[in-house]
Formats: sequence, structure tokens, C-alpha cells
Amino acid sequence: FKIPIGRGAQWVESSNEAVNIRLVKASAGSEYEEEGEDILEFNPLFTYPIFGENEQIFGYKNLSINLEYASGSLASCFSMSYDDKKPTADKIYATMKDWLPKDIGDNHDIFLETVQRDAKEFRPMGNKVGEYRLNRDGLEDNVYEFYHATFQTPRFKEYHRRIQLFAIFFIEGASFIEEDDEKWEALLLFEKESAGGQVSYNIIGYATMYPYYCYPDQTRMRISQFLIMPPYQQQGHGSKMYQELYQSFLRRKEIREMNVEDPNEEFSDLRDKNDMRYLDSQNVFKDLKTPITKDTIDNVAKKYKLTARQVARCFELALMKKLD
Ligand code: ACO
Repeated sequence: FKIPIGRGAQWVESSNEAVNIRLVKASAGSEYEEEGEDILEFNPLFTYPIFGENEQIFGYKNLSINLEYASGSLASCFSMSYDDKKPTADKIYATMKDWLPKDIGDNHDIFLETVQRDAKEFRPMGNKVGEYRLNRDGLEDNVYEFYHATFQTPRFKEYHRRIQLFAIFFIEGASFIEEDDEKWEALLLFEKESAGGQVSYNIIGYATMYPYYCYPDQTRMRISQFLIMPPYQQQGHGSKMYQELYQSFLRRKEIREMNVEDPNEEFSDLRDKNDMRYLDSQNVFKDLKTPITKDTIDNVAKKYKLTARQVARCFELALMKKLD
């Protein structure tokens, strides 16, 4: 049963509210300002894998659990504060330990030094496979870069150990993936910032995918985890990352089909919109006539490496649009 959080229940905290995630960026400083940090702060959507189904923590008043990350390298720092604690309070670090990056620190001064250093030195790992520009808030165009990596890519295993908790926090039903399985692939999306002759990188999002065998000699690529960091959502990055993945799958001869593991509503929306746009650009919906045969659907699915189910969905949407 769930104890109501609020008045009269001061010793119970919502674990989703207690955990504060911070992406900490070095700010270059200026004539008027010293070198410092910019912080993007947000809370997790899901903490039930860590704190249990009810997402509650017992025994504290005004608990804050701070998980701070350098915005590019994701070097991290753990700290906690509270106004009061009962002797029988839940043990927070012990509960979280197996989920946190193995190299998380607890010294804030060292962490801030790392933030400043990594802003200068950290570089993405893997092969750069694409880039785009987006104009944010009418300011100068920012540059965004895609990197492809596997667990054999130097530094990626360590990086993945730092980023994987974000999938647990923001994708319902996500679990850690098996890093000893060499078939996993990942696409990383970074923002590249240039200021005062210095280049630094901020992580924007990532996706993991797994190739399944498809008779007789091809693969079905399954997108497993797909995440844009909360402060960067609703700005078009998710669509860009989806397009990058899909276009790379279209180019690779061994891939026969792209599918998605347990898509949620937001992802399905993104997928529908982008698939519709692409199929439309290929004139698939020209001369749309009902009934649409299974053959048509199968042929389009084969040609564009989509599932028959997804193609049928796109045809349905195209028909609805036509009725409008
Ligand atoms: N300014 C304002 N809004 C914009 C802009 C812009 N410049 N560009 C796009 N948008 C709008 C889009 O039109 C769209 O809105 P609509 O759906 O109302 O039309 C909306 O923003 C979302 O599009 P994107 O910005 O491209 O998507 P986003 O970057 O937010 O990514 C995603 C979507 C992946 C679902 C992201 O929100 C996320 O990571 N969520 C948490 C994790 C998650 O749910 N992942 C998917 C789980 S399923 C799986 O992993 C297989």
C-alpha cells in the first residue's frame, strides 16, 4: 500500500522528487564573470527499479539526493542532504549503489575541477557519422554530431556505464544491457560548443540497438533504448536521431528491417511522423486507392526496411489525412 505523501507523512518522500539530476557545464567566464558552471536540473520519471514499486523513501525530512554529471563526459558526483533522519531510515547509497556509475565520486571540489577539465579535454568516442545544425532561441546555430560506437570502441564501455542509468530513469521498463555482448550498437548525440577558441561537447541523447538474425543471411535491427535528455526534448533532436538511425539502416546491405522494442506513445508518435514524411517524399502515397492490398504493404515494407505493421499504420494515417 502507498502512504500518502504530504501533510502528516513527513517521514515519507517520493523517490522521483528526492532525486535531483544535474548536468553541469563549464561556463567560460568573461570580462565580468569568473569561470563557473551552468546547471541543467531535472528529476527522474521512474525510480521503481531502484526504490520499489511505490517509489517512496522512508525516514527522512526534506531529502535531496543529488546526482551531478559533467555535461559531456558524464563524470559524476553523489551527495545527499536532509533536515532530519530516523535511525531506521532507508539506506540510500546502499540501495542505489548497483545502479550508479562505478566511478561516481563524492568530493564536490574534485567534481567541479573535473567539469572544468572535461569541458576542455573530453571528446566523443566512436566514429562520427553525421551532424546537423539547429537554431535555438533565434541565437546562432548550434552544431550537433552523431557518433556510432560498440562495446569494442575505446572508452565506450566506461561511457555506457555512466549513461545507462538515464535509460532506467526515463524509459519505462528499461533494464541495463549486457555489455559483454559484442553485437550491441549505439548512436550518441552530442552538442558541439565552440567559444573563445575552445571546443566542448555536451551529451544530448543516445540510442542502443541490437541486430537479430534474419533468415537466411540478413539482420533485423531492433532499436532498444532511445533517449533525448529532458532539457533537450521538444526541440527536434529526437526526430534527427531517428532519421540518422533509419538512414544508416537503409544504407547497410545486411539490414533487412528496422523494428522497435516496446515503443511508448511518444516514441510511436515520433516514428509515425518521420516514417510518414519519408514515405511521402518517396511518393509511396501517390495515387492512394482503397483497398490497400497485403502485397502493396509487403512490397513497401521490404523496399523501405520497415515492418509490415508499421507500413500498414502509415497507410492508414495517409488515408485519414486524405479524408480530412
Ligand atoms: N521547438 C519546439 N518544438 C519542436 C521543435 C522545436 N524546434 N522541433 C520539434 N518540436 C516538437 C515536435 O513537433 C514534436 O511535437 P508534436 O509531437 O506535438 O508534433 C515534439 O517536439 C517532439 O519531437 P522531437 O523534439 O523531435 O522529439 P524529442 O527530441 O522530444 O524526442 C522522445 C522524443 C525520444 C520520446 C524524448 O522525449 C525522450 O527521450 N523521452 C524520454 C524517453 C523515452 O520515452 N524514450 C522512448 C522510449 S521507447 C524506446 O526507447 C524504444
